[in-house]
Amino acid sequence: MPAVLSLRDRFIALDRLLTQLRPFWQLRPFALKELPWHQHQSLHHWLQTLDLSACEALERDDQLRAENLASFIDAALPLHAHSQLPEAPTQEMAAYSASTDTLPARLSYHVPGRKWEQIRAFDQALRPAGEQWLEWCAGKGHLGRLLAFRHQRPVLSLEWQHTLCNQGQHLADALKLDCRMQPQDVMAPATTARLHPRQHAVALHACGKLHLRLLRLASEQRLAGVTLSPCCYHLIDEEHYHPLSDSARISRLQLSRQDLKLALQDTVTAGARERRLRQRELAWRLGFDLLQRQLRGEDSYLPCPSAPKSQLSGGFEDYCRWMAARKQLRLPDAIDYAEFEQQGRQRVLTVTRIELVRNLFRRPLELWLALDRALYLQERGYQVTLSEFCDYQLTPRNLLIQAIRRDEPAPPRAAGQ
Ligand SMILES: C[S@@+](CC[C@H](N)C(=O)[O-])C[C@H]1O[C@@H](n2cnc3c(N)ncnc32)[C@H](O)[C@@H]1O
Repeated sequence: MPAVLSLRDRFIALDRLLTQLRPFWQLRPFALKELPWHQHQSLHHWLQTLDLSACEALERDDQLRAENLASFIDAALPLHAHSQLPEAPTQEMAAYSASTDTLPARLSYHVPGRKWEQIRAFDQALRPAGEQWLEWCAGKGHLGRLLAFRHQRPVLSLEWQHTLCNQGQHLADALKLDCRMQPQDVMAPATTARLHPRQHAVALHACGKLHLRLLRLASEQRLAGVTLSPCCYHLIDEEHYHPLSDSARISRLQLSRQDLKLALQDTVTAGARERRLRQRELAWRLGFDLLQRQLRGEDSYLPCPSAPKSQLSGGFEDYCRWMAARKQLRLPDAIDYAEFEQQGRQRVLTVTRIELVRNLFRRPLELWLALDRALYLQERGYQVTLSEFCDYQLTPRNLLIQAIRRDEPAPPRAAGQ
């Protein structure tokens, strides 16, 4: 692979591989009772040799997984290679040093430690444009406060929850920062009037339709800059994804909301207890799936909601009663719950093996979606980069799209550059 691929070339390469290899990832692992790749005999046999801990070891190491799968899926290594992005260069501004000790501790009051680290990394990767920051779906405006302090320019933060706005305003006022927390539903038509070309919009982890709205409005209103780290790609109103860019609109890839969830399927931040609970829920969900097939007399998958954590501390029978009530299924008295639970546990291994293969496509799909957003801005007159703003362990949603309007003057050079 060439050292630096253009956004469009990277998109085309990923699009071709994802489209060609659809049978390996465009499926619903929960709905399957056995491995679906009988025609790929060597892959099928290899997967059957893997136990849970072997699968988990490969899940922890993307490179190793790609190397192993390359024996069965030719494109596994190119797919992995096309998914490697550069780290965003950090911008050390002349006006301050980025070291933690120069930031007043009060800036990070009420911000959970991990969130603060993400905010700091996001800020350090920013290439400022325009004269005002526009913080999109701001929560309590933690990012906005840091930007106001570090860059000495005003911040307008949009957030629809009044309580969060009040709390954020209070925190900013205590530091005498030029921040305005504005209650605003960003989906409402009135939002347009809040945008103007001298702004640089920032969105840290704004969900699907919220950041899509930002991209559309920001490019229509010709904002000087847009920097966002997208998340929750599946939170859209439509059943199917509607691509934004010209390149993605001509793709043969059709993505359902279910497919979009694959882009978020990682567990790096889960602790041991959370992982155990997840395993239990998976086994119970799969056990209940077999039960519901019997109850309905229909051997097909029935989408079921996730159970609240409290529901996972009881027993399997309680879980089935809870789920049956949700799905309006009547449970007869004579059910061998232990047997269904046992079969559910056995299915966990099958699903884990399927997900091992499917997860090879997780990051490529996420990049495909991010590139669609990046190309959309590029097509609308922005100079765009796509990079990683922090380590994957800090947050798996670590992609950063930075767009500066092409006719915008170059940002001030950072100290020492
Ligand atoms: C995932 S949080 C991100 C908050 C903040 N950017 C951060 O990283 O801490 C999403 C925020 O978007 C807000 N939000 C959701 N829908 C919104 C809407 N339609 N208009 C404005 N804000 C919204 C939520 O209230 C929440 O504070």
